Amino acid sequence: MATARQYMILQHMKNSIYASRIGSGSKQKVPASWLSVLAGRPQPGKVAGCNGLAPLTTDYAATWTRRSYTRKAEVRPHQSFVVSHETVKAKATDKKRKLYTEVRDDTDMEQLTVQWENGQVQEYPYIWLRDNCRCEECFHQSAFSRSVSFPQLDVDIRPSQFRLSYDRQKIELQWEDGHNSSYDATWLYKYRFDQSSPDLTLDPKLHYWAAELQDTIKEYDLDELTKSDECLYDWILQMKIVGMALVKAGSTSEGQVIRIGNRVSFLRCTDYGYTSHVKAKYQDAVNIAFTNKIFPMHVDLVFLGRPPGANIIHCIEQAKGEGGENWFVDGFNMAEELRREDPEAFDILTNTELEFFDIGNDFYGKFHQRSRHPTISLDSRGRPDHINVSDHGRDPMLRIPARKIQPFYKALKAFSNKLYDPKNIFSYKLKEGDIMTFDNRRVIHGRRAFETTTSSSRHLETGYLEWDELDSRLRVLHKQLGYHNL
Ligand SMILES: [Fe+2]
Ligand SMILES: [Zn+2]
Repeated sequence: MATARQYMILQHMKNSIYASRIGSGSKQKVPASWLSVLAGRPQPGKVAGCNGLAPLTTDYAATWTRRSYTRKAEVRPHQSFVVSHETVKAKATDKKRKLYTEVRDDTDMEQLTVQWENGQVQEYPYIWLRDNCRCEECFHQSAFSRSVSFPQLDVDIRPSQFRLSYDRQKIELQWEDGHNSSYDATWLYKYRFDQSSPDLTLDPKLHYWAAELQDTIKEYDLDELTKSDECLYDWILQMKIVGMALVKAGSTSEGQVIRIGNRVSFLRCTDYGYTSHVKAKYQDAVNIAFTNKIFPMHVDLVFLGRPPGANIIHCIEQAKGEGGENWFVDGFNMAEELRREDPEAFDILTNTELEFFDIGNDFYGKFHQRSRHPTISLDSRGRPDHINVSDHGRDPMLRIPARKIQPFYKALKAFSNKLYDPKNIFSYKLKEGDIMTFDNRRVIHGRRAFETTTSSSRHLETGYLEWDELDSRLRVLHKQLGYHNL
């Protein structure tokens, strides 16, 4: 391994050093940071190595650009933290590799500053670079996982040298302890901390809707969904962005819900089994769903600590007479509307925990489920994350001071008024063979009362998928279909 070039420091200016290269006699002005890593604080008369110029192996050489590094380049455009549906596939065609244009070592800041050819600049603290070394010693290549444990990490680690490859695709660092790390320009570009591109599944730009979904809801054919990966990808993306999609099964035989579940991964099992049959019964119904009465607006199984992610409802038989329409409301849209119109009510509903319960006896015997959720739960960025509404499973227990009870009910009423306002409701009477699929943590649904007669009943088969599995399938398909750039 070659040693770094040696320089005699002649004069130390504000941000640069006038130095003489030992062995060649040439004199040049270089940024102070080039020399400081090996020499500590440079002083005239001191000999220093140049960390930015010395090739360590024949594969690498200095390609450091000599133009001055302007702080203006660090002014960054505002970057949205959401990814829109329209841009997902458009980005897929942009497969160009990234190249570095500049790399600078800011020893005082304990970071490396990198610029790419698109002008973007990013600082990378040494500790993060060392922690995320992708060499075979630090990262298990086939397990895709870090193989160095945290106690081995020196949080004050510094590089002793670095260099840029000829093709400007790699930076290689040699650390003080002799370990070598290499960072690919395209790989490093992905990890720009708070400037990173939004994530496909974690940062979607949602499309909010109201009653107009009646005309715009997207339809899919179940046979195509089963055969075509593009169709499956599109359906999951639709579920993610809009929160709802209609699948035409073309069949009224049982088992269609399981077909969808197996196509994604597997269904979520509950106390009611892998799928549940919702049939109108005249007597002895164990759940209000099994009657022909109005089913108030709710999300399913909110009495669980982790209610199901997505709902799949297959219509096997529909009531022939009046009624039986399903109502769907975009809960996130309503939550945001409430935040704008009545911030106090919004605040109460995001901070007051309710208790929900379900007591029954079904597929796996007796059960007693109980959980706590606020009506609107927010994620760490303050965005609506889960809606928890269920009048039939709402417990009398409210663990708040009595003086806060009336304001809570007023807040819940303000939210509820939106859920029953026809202008917000997508009303749809399922046709036999239809499968309605929707995000159970976002879409609040209910059912209009209907008539049953001795010759006409109503039969739905329902099941659940989890967002972990839907997101996972979306990610796998995204790569499989060649959409590599998110
Ligand atoms: Fe339901
Ligand atoms: Zn390593």
